[in-house]
Amino acid sequence: MRGLSGKSVLITGAGRRGGLGEGIARRFIEEGANVMVADLDRPQGDHFPEHGVPAQSEMEAVVAELGALGPGQVASVVCDVRDEANVEHAVAATVSRFGGLDVLVNNAGIGYLMSPIVETELSNWEVVMGVNLTGTFLATKHAGRQMIAQGRGGRIINISSQGGKSGFPHAGAYVSSKHGVIGFTRTAAIEFGPHNITVNAVCPNHVTTGLGSWQNEYFSNLLGQTLEEYMSGMIGRIPMGRNGLPSDIAATCAFLASEDGAYISGDALNVSGGEETH
Ligand SMILES: NC(=O)c1ccc[n+]([C@@H]2O[C@H](COP(=O)([O-])OP(=O)(O)OC[C@H]3O[C@@H](n4cnc5c(N)ncnc54)[C@H](O)[C@@H]3O)[C@@H](O)[C@H]2O)c1
Repeated sequence: MRGLSGKSVLITGAGRRGGLGEGIARRFIEEGANVMVADLDRPQGDHFPEHGVPAQSEMEAVVAELGALGPGQVASVVCDVRDEANVEHAVAATVSRFGGLDVLVNNAGIGYLMSPIVETELSNWEVVMGVNLTGTFLATKHAGRQMIAQGRGGRIINISSQGGKSGFPHAGAYVSSKHGVIGFTRTAAIEFGPHNITVNAVCPNHVTTGLGSWQNEYFSNLLGQTLEEYMSGMIGRIPMGRNGLPSDIAATCAFLASEDGAYISGDALNVSGGEETH
């Protein structure tokens, strides 16, 4: 990829093994970029359970493994993307460690608080919106300020979802937040374009990450299917005959952040093997 070596990259929600954030970090480091991993580093109450966020030891191990890859460097910061002071600190830590900020990937997201609309607790709705949509806004606000002040352009990549284009049962908050991310992306692209900062959303279909595995269990139970039946039905709907992989999403992010992605902005790119086409 042209133009990624030496860039300073902040990726939210990248502290979990096998997650999209880890995959995106891996690709940027292999391209020679320096990556700040920002994540929660421990479960917290019902909204951030063990199956949803990394333990401190997991995040440390992920960062150590990424650090061994090279040629890019890696560092980490604990950050709740719903908290503006945390987000400001994560941006400042990236600038101080790597001498600026060139790329922000808004990847932190939760998709495990599922329920029918009529049974959805307001607190669950607000937490999903807080992480997926408000977190994207806060990080874009502070990274955008930094990029504008630097005057050397930049890239902002928001991980939306197939749920940003289509509805899914029991996922009212998730789907609304991911549609919101696309609307926010379009507005940010207009405001940041004059500063040579591109803003795009990426919309994966299913990837079997920690979150993806949890969703497979949930939906197979909901439909009364075995996991195998559910997965084979899902793969049957994907023209390319397989699920997405973290490396598919990472390649898209690397392309958007590279010199070759310089004139793409305000878009919401499907990375779905042909399943999502609008
Ligand atoms: N896996 C899929 O099938 C899929 C499909 C489409 C979109 N996505 C999106 O991709 C992104 C990554 O998901 P994933 O599948 O890799 O799951 P994941 O659970 O591995 O990653 C999500 C990360 O977000 C972090 N996070 C949660 N709340 C946070 C907070 N308040 N502050 C900071 N970090 C927080 C988690 O700790 C975790 O590391 C999410 O935005 C998700 O919605 C995933």
